[in-house]
Amino acid sequence: MGATTTSGGTSYDRVPYESLPFAQTHPDRLAALAHLFGLQAPAPERARVLELGCAGGGNLIPMAVALPQAQFVGIDLSPVQVAEGQALIRALGLRNITLHARSILDVDTRLGTFDYVLAHGVYSWVPDAVQDKILALCASQLSADGVAYVSYNTLPGWRMRGMVRDLMRYHAMQFDDPARRVGQARAILDFLAGAVPTQGSAYGLLLQTELENLRGAPDYYILHEHLEDINEPLYFHEFVDRARRHGLQYLAEADFSSMLDSNLPADVAGTLRQISGDIVRQEQFMDFLRNRTFRQTLLVHGSRTVQRQIRPEQVAGLWISGQLQAASLAPDLQGDGEESFHAPTGGLLKSRQRVTKAAAVVLARAWPVALPFEQLLQEALAMAGQAPVAPPPAAAGLPTPRDILASDILQCQMAGLLSVHGGPSPFVHPAGERPLASPLARWQAAQGKRYLSTLRHESLPFDPALGRLLQLLDGTRDRAALARDATAHVPGASVGPLVDLIGRAALLQA
Ligand SMILES: C[S@@+](CC[C@H](N)C(=O)[O-])C[C@H]1O[C@@H](n2cnc3c(N)ncnc32)[C@H](O)[C@@H]1O
Repeated sequence: MGATTTSGGTSYDRVPYESLPFAQTHPDRLAALAHLFGLQAPAPERARVLELGCAGGGNLIPMAVALPQAQFVGIDLSPVQVAEGQALIRALGLRNITLHARSILDVDTRLGTFDYVLAHGVYSWVPDAVQDKILALCASQLSADGVAYVSYNTLPGWRMRGMVRDLMRYHAMQFDDPARRVGQARAILDFLAGAVPTQGSAYGLLLQTELENLRGAPDYYILHEHLEDINEPLYFHEFVDRARRHGLQYLAEADFSSMLDSNLPADVAGTLRQISGDIVRQEQFMDFLRNRTFRQTLLVHGSRTVQRQIRPEQVAGLWISGQLQAASLAPDLQGDGEESFHAPTGGLLKSRQRVTKAAAVVLARAWPVALPFEQLLQEALAMAGQAPVAPPPAAAGLPTPRDILASDILQCQMAGLLSVHGGPSPFVHPAGERPLASPLARWQAAQGKRYLSTLRHESLPFDPALGRLLQLLDGTRDRAALARDATAHVPGASVGPLVDLIGRAALLQA
């Protein structure tokens, strides 16, 4: 993804990157993870956020829409992409975000300090001096309790993938036109994957796997991920050493569930822990075990005290969201029978604990809105028929419902069944009297973009019927006016369920 500059501008000027929201970079997630490790990360709602290599602002602009009291600054080398982002910022009338067409190398302390510094999809694809400057800025521009996010390609996974990159580049780089390059890169991989037998050949299997991975990938991705001049993967421990040299320390992975060895067989996990010693070695061994190709690493100042043993009480200061569906039509919430709850990701929660079972139902009803832990606890206790306000003190040694819920939420979060958040949801469900949709999503719908950015900081594939209704949700129409104005596009009776769907997709502002 290196941005080669030529007289024709950078490669990103010629073929811009489709810039999208990445939930894993959102301060809401970074603050929650820092909190779990005993740190007091700044509140996302009023944070200052810097993104290095922000492309057209597809990640930063939705954050600025969702968090109007926070401040955002984006830096990118490609004037074309930045100009595109600036035009969108003007169209939306946003005053809390600026994008600068500038090299990371030219960023200095005049920009001030930031609570969150983000660099997604940049580090591995830029020259050494820029890599070093990214980490230098993560240290020098980060506030005392701030969190930096840097993603990068890792070894050993990229060792094998790099071979495929070499083969595609060897053939494709003889062509000048970017579209031709991508077409030829696909063609040579296709040819070789067909020519090398997979039976008994690790190489043949590798080519087949890479071909499958790239089949659905858009051209701009292949061009910038595989055909750029620079793509320098490194080992996790090397990255952490570099960060240490800048006074930073490893906090966690933004994809928290990837850190856990709980999904490894017990004997493998046990041996790993024995040979690891510390968190960095443990993570590095897991990369060897999983042949990892990519990391999204969070860093904090070396002076902070990171509590590696996460205590369930840490959940108490957070907001929780989840979409767990009870397997039974009438789950037993007031008794001790085991109930199962399915997550959309395919995971399964099984529990006999009344407070946990009830909390799963409370969260599913509130979805996508996150609830503060205390509210969730009180509502779950009430639903479970336990004393809502002051549960009886624990009998000697027995955990209270509060302890049980905190511990189960932590386990579910680690397993990717629930999410924890560092602040309240910037969206509502159900819709109010006059529903108001995110101005960004309305703009994207009007432009017929491929994806809508939700206020949960995710991408939703564009649907024309939903898109037309979305544009009417500008806060001026009540249900009757909506039904009337939408008739040209959708039958009046469908408006209610569609608005509900839009709310469930986290597209409605408070
Ligand atoms: C692969 S794109 C990633 C964009 C975005 N962060 C994302 O993940 O969608 C890499 C971006 O880094 C920018 N970039 C490369 N070198 C840069 C530099 N020296 N200074 C600022 N931006 C740079 C490119 O212009 C490009 O927009």
